[in-house]
Amino acid sequence: MTAKLLLHPPADFATPLLAVFAVDISTVKDAPPSPALLTTSDALANAAAPWLASGEFKATLGETLLLHAPASTKAERLLLIGVGKAKSLSIHELRKAAGVAVRFAKPRGIRELAIAFPEDKALADEPLDTLPAELTARALAEGLILADFDIDFYRADRKDTSVAATVLHTEADKLAQTAMQLGFEEGTIIAESQNFARTLVNEPGNVLTPTELGKRTKAMCDEFGLACEVHSIDKILELKMGAFASVTQGSVEPPALIVMRYEPANAPADGPVIGLVGKGITFDTGGISIKPADNMDKMKYDMAGSAAMIGAMRAIAQLKPNVRVISVVCSCENMPDGKAFKPGDVVTAMSGKTIEIMNTDAEGRLVLADGLHFARTLGATHLIDAATLTGAIGVALGLLNAGLFTNDDATAGKFFSAAWKVGEKFWQMPCTDDYRDQIKSEIADIRNTGNSRYGGATTAAMFLKEFVGDTPGLPPANWIHLDIAGTAWLDDQKPWQSKGPSGIAVRSITEWVRSYAK
Ligand code: BES
Ligand code: ZN
Ligand code: ZN
Repeated sequence: MTAKLLLHPPADFATPLLAVFAVDISTVKDAPPSPALLTTSDALANAAAPWLASGEFKATLGETLLLHAPASTKAERLLLIGVGKAKSLSIHELRKAAGVAVRFAKPRGIRELAIAFPEDKALADEPLDTLPAELTARALAEGLILADFDIDFYRADRKDTSVAATVLHTEADKLAQTAMQLGFEEGTIIAESQNFARTLVNEPGNVLTPTELGKRTKAMCDEFGLACEVHSIDKILELKMGAFASVTQGSVEPPALIVMRYEPANAPADGPVIGLVGKGITFDTGGISIKPADNMDKMKYDMAGSAAMIGAMRAIAQLKPNVRVISVVCSCENMPDGKAFKPGDVVTAMSGKTIEIMNTDAEGRLVLADGLHFARTLGATHLIDAATLTGAIGVALGLLNAGLFTNDDATAGKFFSAAWKVGEKFWQMPCTDDYRDQIKSEIADIRNTGNSRYGGATTAAMFLKEFVGDTPGLPPANWIHLDIAGTAWLDDQKPWQSKGPSGIAVRSITEWVRSYAK
């Protein structure tokens, strides 16, 4: 996909497909929809007028109507794309609508398209400011690039359906032009990084082993100027990461402990250090507590948390916020074997805490326990982890919101602002100390699962919390945990998005990190 922004009147642009967004401006309850174009181009308004008046197009979000040979334009086709009610219009609907244009074009073999830059001033004489230029441009670039992603990498009949998209605007003001260009470039970086994460998640477990994840991460870091080390089992044992080591011990595939660093020269020495920690289980069989066969194939996506961190680091390396960031990815397989760890085993985490293993399928929290602690020893003051941690989060929240757990509401507040800005959904879940009973063990400091299936996502979070708080010799860290088990994989495609890996959390984590820049 190539996406660019161009100063050019949309009606005068020769293209096989010109997309224009339409909003429903009716405000009266139960009144028939009243679609209006989000453009000040009279030519486009005239071309669409009969169809808008006909009532067959209601401008609901994602709805399309294709017009061939539209009058008084140079486009071969005009595609009306609905963005919903004017009242609730935001850049997030436009991100989706831009994606709809791409996913409309792809199956029809249309390889080039243009989009008329949406203008809220088309709706009113007063400035509305619902669509700030920079963020609108950013959302459009994101929508276009994210929609270009497909999962059919291994099909012999895979066709190159990638699209070249041009966003056409008529903004004369130089300052606004600069803001739009900047937003568009940022959106391109962010969406390409999100697609990078999605590509990793889409890979099957036999291709994307921990070693391969290390290689691809290192290559990405080399390309964008990040420091990167990929450590083997020797280092994991040397660091006394007994929890991580226990998970990998049943697998013939070697584990990988990946450390990425972004260290801008001018970051204040006493400023925050952000630590991004990812669960990188490249395949989760459950181990000795083996999972049922149904849907086990999906457990290749159990490294989506680490992919989110790697994708965020890729974006951060290019956006260059003035804040130090380190990322720790703990990657291994979870396999049953004669050498595998077993229920009842007691292992010692890097922090010194002993853990009674109740269920080897609760492996994510084990690798993260050591990853979080390790990130603190590297100097992280603010930690975020992302993990496909529990099926329970999907039971609690459905598949729309990812779960957010924290030990510091101010840190979470900054994250929620970031997520809101970039259009990703997270919902805060309890993580207070009164839930700690669940992880009490009689034989060790803690155990890795609760004795009840109720509140399983919180139990997992309480386990992680043990590794970010009071630890001799280390200051407590502000911490956020994202449980993305319900949201990292989309089972059904959307009009703007392929089924498969969603790339959830890349945009929010990137934006949250930027909010700490000095
Ligand atoms: N990787 C799974 C969680 C998961 C489940 C991710 C469904 C995506 C979809 C995790 O390692 C796991 O198996 N968790 C167990 C925890 C239980 C043993 C306490 C679970 O959720 O069942
Ligand atoms: Zn598991
Ligand atoms: Zn898992």
